[in-house]
Amino acid sequence: MKHVGVAILGLGVVGSGTYEILRDHRQMYQKTQNVDIVVENVLELRKERAIALGISEDKIASSIDTICNNPNVDIVVEVMGGITFAKDFVLKALEAGKTVVTSNKELYCKFSHELEACAKMHNAGLYYEASCVGGVPVIRAQLDNLQGNKILSLLGIVNGTTNYILTKMSALGVSYQEVLKEAQSLGYAEANPTADVEGYDATYKLSILSSLSFGTKVPYTKIYREGITNINQKDISYGKQLGYVLKLLAIGKNNPEGIEVRVHPTFISSSHPLASVNDSYNAVFITGDAVEDVMLYGRGAGKLPTGSAIVGDIIYAATHEKINYSPFKNTMDADPNTNFIKNFSSAYYLRLSVKDEKGVLAKVTSIFSKYNISCEKLIQDINEDKTANLIIITHIAKEYDINQAVEEINKDEACDVEAVIRVN
Ligand code: HSE
Repeated sequence: MKHVGVAILGLGVVGSGTYEILRDHRQMYQKTQNVDIVVENVLELRKERAIALGISEDKIASSIDTICNNPNVDIVVEVMGGITFAKDFVLKALEAGKTVVTSNKELYCKFSHELEACAKMHNAGLYYEASCVGGVPVIRAQLDNLQGNKILSLLGIVNGTTNYILTKMSALGVSYQEVLKEAQSLGYAEANPTADVEGYDATYKLSILSSLSFGTKVPYTKIYREGITNINQKDISYGKQLGYVLKLLAIGKNNPEGIEVRVHPTFISSSHPLASVNDSYNAVFITGDAVEDVMLYGRGAGKLPTGSAIVGDIIYAATHEKINYSPFKNTMDADPNTNFIKNFSSAYYLRLSVKDEKGVLAKVTSIFSKYNISCEKLIQDINEDKTANLIIITHIAKEYDINQAVEEINKDEACDVEAVIRVN
C-alpha cells in the first residue's frame, strides 16, 4: 500500500480538525483509497495543542526546514493563515518538492502566480480547495466537473460572518452593531471583524473563483468592494416588503463586453435559491452555458468542514499522478486583453428622505430621466414631521448614471439619498 506522509503547519481550529479527520479515518482510507496517510510532522509553537491531540513529541518539528528535510513527508498542509510566514513556508516546502495543500485564501489570491510557478519548477502539487467556501467543493467542481462549460456567471454567499449578521438583522429586526456584538461574543465574528464585514475575505474568494470560472487571472484589485457596515435595519425591512432578501454577494459575470466582478450588499428576490442560505452557511450559484444553473451549498468555515476540504485535497494528491495546475495563464495581472467593466448595469434600490411638499417627486423623477433611469416600483411613507421616505426600485440602469443622479439629488436641500443598494 502506498504510504503518504503529511506535515501540518499550524494546529489551530482547521489544523486540529484536519489532524482529527486523518487520524480517525486512517483505516477507512487504507480500505477505500488503498493509501496509508500518516501525519509525520506538525509545526506548532504551542506544543500543548499537539499533545492534547495525542501527537507524540518526536513529531513536533522545530522548524520548517526540519519538515522540508524529512524524506517521509510528501504533503505539507498550510493552515497557519496570514501571509508573511505562510508564504515563506509554502515556498520552502514547494522548493523541497513537497506538494502543498493550503486553506489560505489571502495567500493564494495574492500570490498564486508565484506559488504555482515554484510548484511547477519543482514538480510539486498545489491544492487550495479549502481556501474558498470551506467544506463546499467548489474549486474541484470548477477544475474538473464544470470544465466543459463556458461559465457565464457566478453568484456567491462566500462569507459566513456577514451572512450570519444579515440573517439575524433580518430575523430579529435589530441593528448591525447589536448583531455584531452578539456574533463576537459567540465567537462567530472576529474581535477585529474588518476582513469579513468590509468584504475583503469575500473579495479574495471571488478573485480565486472568478479566475477559475473565466479562464484568466482576476486580480482582487479589479474587484469592486463594499462591505455591510453601513446597512441600516430600515432597508432590510423595506426590502422585505418588496419581496427581497439582503445578502453580501460576490458576483462574477462573463459578459460579451468584458468581465464584471464585484462584492457588495445586494437585494435578491426571496424566491432565488440563494435567499434561503441563512446564518453562517455559504453557497455558490454557478451558471454554465451547457450545465445551466448549479448551486453548491454548505458550511463555509469551521474545524471539520474546512478540514474536510483539506483532507479531500490530500487524498486527491495522494491518489493522482497528474498535477492539476490552473487552467489559465496564472500571472500576477490579468491578461492585457481582458476588459473589466466598471460601469456595470443593475437594478437599484434607493431610499430617500424628502420634504413632504409639492414638486419634490417631480424633481427626483426629472433627475432620473436626465440620467436614463426609469422607476419600476415606488413606495412612499409620510412621517409626522412633514418628511417622507421614498423607496424606489429602478429598472436596469448604469452604475455611473446612478452615482451622478444621487449626487445631483443630494444637492437639493429638500432631498437626501440615504441608501443605495444594488438589486440582482
Ligand atoms: N471568515 C470567514 C467567514 C471564514 O466568515 O466566512 C473563513 O474564510
